[in-house]
Parts: sequence; C-alpha cells; structure tokens
Amino acid sequence: MPCPHCVSADKLFDPRVARRELSRLHRRGPSASTRMLIAALPRGSLLDIGGGVGAIQHAFAATAERITHVDASQAYVAVARAELERLGFTSSEHLHGDFVALHASIEAHTVVTLDRVLCCYPDLSGLVIASTAKAQRAWGAVFPKERWWTRVGVRVMNLVLRLRGSDYQGYIHPEAQIMALAEAAGLRLKSTASTWLWNVWTFQRP
Ligand SMILES: C[S@@+](CC[C@H](N)C(=O)[O-])C[C@H]1O[C@@H](n2cnc3c(N)ncnc32)[C@H](O)[C@@H]1O
Repeated sequence: MPCPHCVSADKLFDPRVARRELSRLHRRGPSASTRMLIAALPRGSLLDIGGGVGAIQHAFAATAERITHVDASQAYVAVARAELERLGFTSSEHLHGDFVALHASIEAHTVVTLDRVLCCYPDLSGLVIASTAKAQRAWGAVFPKERWWTRVGVRVMNLVLRLRGSDYQGYIHPEAQIMALAEAAGLRLKSTASTWLWNVWTFQRP
C-alpha cells in the first residue's frame, strides 16, 4: 500500500505543475537555494531524491557517470527524464515512488540530494537514515529554517491545501534532529548557507 503522503504528492505535483516548473527553470534557472546546494557539493554520481523537474540533475549531467532520480510525483519523473534525454544524458534512472519504501533496491551514489523534500515528508528519521546510507561522499539538503515565519507559512499553506481537498502537508522539522541524524550516519557538516526561508546544509564522509 503506497504511503498516503506520496499519493497526495503525486496528485499535487501533476503534469500541469511539472510543465510550469520546467518552464520556470528554463526562464530563470535554479532557485537561489538550489544554486547554493549545487555549488557546495562535489561532483560524481548523483542520487536526487524528490528532484522535481531536475535542476540539480542538469547541473550534474556534464560530469556525472550516473544519475538516479526518485520522486513521488509521476509527472516530475517523466519531465525530468525527458529533459535529461534532451540534454543528451543517457545514464539516468528515474523511479516513481516513496524513496523510503524503495531505498533497499537503490545503490549508493557519490552525492545524495534532497532539495525541499524533508519538509514534505512526515517521517524525518526514516527519510534521513535511508538517504544518508546511500551517500558515499556527500549528502545535501535544503529545508525550511525553524523560525516563526516559516511555521506560520507552513500552517497557512497546509490550511489552503486542506481547503482545496489535498492531503499533502508541509513540515518544519527540527534542525537539531536533522544534524543529529546525519552525524549518527557518520557524516560531518561541511557547509551551511541560507536564504530568508531555506537552510542549505551539506555533509561529507570524513
Ligand atoms: C517541494 S517539491 C521540491 C521539488 C524539487 N526538489 C525542487 O526543489 O523544485 C518536493 C518533492 O519531493 C518529492 N517527495 C516528497 N517525499 C518523497 C519521498 N518520500 N520519496 C520520493 N519523493 C518525495 C515530491 O514528489 C516532490 O517532487
């Protein structure tokens, strides 16, 4: 039985949203927080969890020998796959589903990324433990700062989503817990950056 969260993500991030996001990526490039994440990471094979239309994948495509993308949204998976093919990158695998449910069958990669994904998943420890285990060299995440305005923003967003009939919910997970989980997985903090809304943290294996 698929996780309810992933079913609602699949409905929310539908083909219309995916086309709009790709068009925005073509017009404006990656968001500031995504650019910070890309800049802070080493290169190598990439496991991009919840990668959306694939902004990080495009940055890695010139040098990566292998890219794996796992996303709860079928529409994002389809758009990201087509876009990488358009760019001439053929060594990619795109999997639709819940990474926590699929992780046992996914190999480790040099770099693992979760760009604005931790905030979309209720089971923080399950997602961090499963994803850090796949990071041979680096693990990077973009997630909301723990501030009053992000809490208010997520509550308003969740209310709007419920009123629109969506079960999809956002979460502000504790920064200290993310740090503790990554360190417990044997990773050490390499860099921190932020925008007014997002933390951009990268970790590496010592
Ligand atoms: C807010 S979107 C961010 C998309 C993209 N990374 C970006 O920054 O534009 C969250 C993404 O995470 C995906 N996602 C959330 N939980 C997931 C899970 N457990 N496994 C795989 N994908 C997940 C959603 O389907 C969605 O594509």
